[in-house]
Amino acid sequence: MNLLSQTFADRLAARASAVEAMLNAILTETPLEGETARPAHLLSAMRHGVLNGGKRFRPFLVLESAALFGFDGNAAMRVAAALECLHCYSLVHDDLPAMDDDDLRRGRPTVHVAYDDATAILAGDALLTLAFDLIADPQTDLPADRRADLVLLLARAAGIGGMVGGQVLDIAAETKTPDEAGIITLQAMKTGALLRFACEAGAVIAGAGTDDRTRLRQYGEKIGLAFQLADDLLDLTADTATLGKAAGKDAGRGKGTLPALHGEAWTRKRLGELVSEAESLLEPFGERAAILKEAARFVANRDK
Ligand code: IPE
Ligand code: IPE
Ligand code: MG
Ligand code: MG
Ligand code: MG
Repeated sequence: MNLLSQTFADRLAARASAVEAMLNAILTETPLEGETARPAHLLSAMRHGVLNGGKRFRPFLVLESAALFGFDGNAAMRVAAALECLHCYSLVHDDLPAMDDDDLRRGRPTVHVAYDDATAILAGDALLTLAFDLIADPQTDLPADRRADLVLLLARAAGIGGMVGGQVLDIAAETKTPDEAGIITLQAMKTGALLRFACEAGAVIAGAGTDDRTRLRQYGEKIGLAFQLADDLLDLTADTATLGKAAGKDAGRGKGTLPALHGEAWTRKRLGELVSEAESLLEPFGERAAILKEAARFVANRDK
């Protein structure tokens, strides 16, 4: 059953190629002001971890959330690219032998396999730092207070109380399965926080008011939970060729997930509820939010 419109698919694809072009332009050999040199080997590993693949769904959310409030400037693209750099860093480190120990990502060898562990760690570190560089740089043409807001918001989403904290809980969940509330917290942190940032960032970029910003943040929280629930379901039900990353590895590592706890039917029902809740939050925006409503359905129904 195809639940998504061609318009949505076209828009996601168009945004993804624009983001790819931006990332390609950012990851060049030329040092920026204040940098000394960009070692070719590290740059090559960073490019491997970032370019040629991925749904680019977080950047899509940044761009569409900003567009909801009528913002269409290049600053949104720079924030979108920053978030994708940070997301790619999280994947490069997530795949390391000390973490999920995966060889395949986006249909290609993971960075530590194509290079080595030290290079993968450092490529991740450099991508994380680059994310904040991209937002803070005055080339991101926004009032300075908005850039500072975005830096703070991203720091809180990415660090100990967000993605990194969630990754620690996720590793702990391999040894001792958390209860349902514990799994939800883990999902909200390791994955939800960056998706929440994507949606709220669009409102910040556009200078939207507090109520609109809160609404986008809540929408981001809903689809953030749905995103990881779908990822865990796909790990159980999809194949490696489709996913471009190893399937069936959560069960293999004894990882506590909600699909493992409750099964596929329960998970699909829960995904449907989260989508409805996300769509309801966008009701006040009417037709203007049609694409973000469809984005919520995409999260739940995607096949990779
Ligand atoms: C995978 O994210 C890691 C999770 C947070 C679940 P994506 O499913 O967005 O991966 P790419 O970027 O499309 O490869
Ligand atoms: C990863 O979760 C979340 C991150 C912060 C990277 P997973 O470990 O389930 O992601 P995949 O399945 O490897 O993409
Ligand atoms: Mg992991
Ligand atoms: Mg993983
Ligand atoms: Mg997974």
